[in-house]
Amino acid sequence: MKHRDCNVNTARQENARVIVHERVNGSEGLCLHTTVNKLPKAGEVSVRIQAAGLNHRDLFIMKERSDLHQSVVLGSDGAGIVASVGEGIEHIQVGDEVIIHPTLNWVHTNEIPETLTILGYPSEGTFAEYVVVPVTCIEKKPAYLTWEEAGVLPLAALTAYRALFTRGQLKSGEHVLITGIGGGVATYAFMMAKAAGAKVTVTSRSQEKRLRALEVGADHVLASDCDWGESLHGEPVNLIIDSIGPAVFTQFLQVLAPGGRVVQFGRSSGDKVEISLSTLFRNQYSILATSMGSAEEFREMLQFVERHRIRPVIDQIYPLEQAVQAFKRMEAGVQFGNIGLKM
Ligand SMILES: NC(=O)c1ccc[n+]([C@@H]2O[C@H](COP(=O)([O-])OP(=O)(O)OC[C@H]3O[C@@H](n4cnc5c(N)ncnc54)[C@H](OP(=O)(O)O)[C@@H]3O)[C@@H](O)[C@H]2O)c1
Repeated sequence: MKHRDCNVNTARQENARVIVHERVNGSEGLCLHTTVNKLPKAGEVSVRIQAAGLNHRDLFIMKERSDLHQSVVLGSDGAGIVASVGEGIEHIQVGDEVIIHPTLNWVHTNEIPETLTILGYPSEGTFAEYVVVPVTCIEKKPAYLTWEEAGVLPLAALTAYRALFTRGQLKSGEHVLITGIGGGVATYAFMMAKAAGAKVTVTSRSQEKRLRALEVGADHVLASDCDWGESLHGEPVNLIIDSIGPAVFTQFLQVLAPGGRVVQFGRSSGDKVEISLSTLFRNQYSILATSMGSAEEFREMLQFVERHRIRPVIDQIYPLEQAVQAFKRMEAGVQFGNIGLKM
């Protein structure tokens, strides 16, 4: 990875390392810079990041953005220590250990913003030694989590929590099917659904991941491309949590119980699916969509994981300067759980 010195808008002459994406699409555009870290304005907090998490969102941005002349600091997930506090903030002190809520403009669950603003593009994100965020995005780090665990938790765990409970209305004893268990959000959805007393089936393309899922308590595992209806032996599914899309979507309507729900939050295998409307209305299925979550849900999610002592499944943690290798692993799709960076 290339290493360059550059100056950004600064108030204090203190060098900090930061991973920047620029010039070319894909993770080849990542490079390590040295900048001078910013001071927080009124209502903002500067956090010295201890660990940050990778998300598929970062890959999509690097692949698809056209404003390549802009240097961008990606990263939506992070946890760290408060380094300085802007004017007007009293409840947060320098030295507090915090975790960052990545949805910047969504406070109340029932007030969904027209466009979600997410930390890490266009605003500067967490792949840096320091990040400045609005104080409304700061919560106390759950003490039982390590820095690495807290750093990879926010976006994926929040998405899983809202998908299962706010949108999916999961009840104890229901049968939930989670697709692509290797993914970050899927591993949280799996642990949360088990904690809520659900029966959980997971899918994966990889036999190794299916065996791993059985070891950690999955009730059933399915190969992504097998006939799910046949393999489930007529055990209907109440709720499907999916981010894969077209590669698996046609199977959903064959395994759902009447009145079943699908909660969709991703497009890992493409953007378009074909649905039989007659199957949909005859069985009274609900297809629901979700994205991230509100500040209220972020707090509820933290309470839920703390109450059930849920710990993120960490696939691998890389030093900051090895961000390219970390993203190559995510691109290859070989991970089981979360990939993180340590500062
Ligand atoms: N809307 C939101 O708020 C939101 C939030 C977070 C993530 N997302 C989206 O959700 C998706 C998952 O993100 P993530 O970071 O949790 O996971 P991830 O690390 O990107 O993994 C997704 C998993 O999906 C499976 N998969 C991917 N491509 C596939 C294909 N062509 N056919 C079959 N299976 C495939 C793989 O599981 P196996 O290896 O086990 O087969 C993979 O591990 C991404 O599209 C992301 O953009 C959306």
